[in-house]
Amino acid sequence: MAEAQSQKEYFPINSLVDVVRARRRGLEMAQALGFPLAEATKIAVVISELGRNIERYVGQGSITVTAHSEDEKYILIVAQDNGAGIPDVDRAMAGGYSTSGGLGLGLSGSKRLMDKFDIKSITGVGTTIKTVKWLR
Ligand SMILES: Nc1ncnc2c1ncn2[C@@H]1O[C@H](COP(=O)(O)OP(=O)(O)O)[C@@H](O)[C@H]1O
Ligand SMILES: [Mg+2]
Repeated sequence: MAEAQSQKEYFPINSLVDVVRARRRGLEMAQALGFPLAEATKIAVVISELGRNIERYVGQGSITVTAHSEDEKYILIVAQDNGAGIPDVDRAMAGGYSTSGGLGLGLSGSKRLMDKFDIKSITGVGTTIKTVKWLR
C-alpha cells in the first residue's frame, strides 16, 4: 500500500483574513493526517496565535504548515517574519508578558499545546518559530 505523500503549504500573512485561512487549512491538514478533532484544534489554535502575532507585531510574514506522513507522522508549523524581533525571548516565553495589553499567553500557551517548540528571534532581523506535534 502506497503511503500518503508529505504535504507542505505556505501561507503569506498580511492580514487577519490570512490568519483565518491558515488556521482553517491547518485544521484540515491535521485531521487528514489522522489527528482527532481535539488535537487538530490545538494545532489550529497555535497557527492562529503565531499568525496573529505576525499580523499584530510585524504586519507581514508567513506560516508554513507541513503534514509529514512518511516514517513518522507529525505536523510542523514554521512562523517567520522579518520584524523587530522579541528583545527578551525568555520573558515572552514565560507568559504574562505583553507589549500590546494582551494576556501574554500566546507563545507560552502554544508551547504547551505542542511537543517541540523552537524560537529564534534576533532584534532588528526577525523571528522564526518552528513547532512540531507528533501523531501518536
Ligand atoms: N512575531 C513577533 N515579533 C515581535 N514581537 C513579538 C512577536 N510575537 C510575539 N511578540 C512579543 O511577545 C509578546 C508576547 O506574545 P504572546 O505570548 O503572543 O502574547 P500577546 O500577543 O497577548 O501579547 C508580545 O506582546 C510581543 O511583544
Ligand atoms: Mg499573541
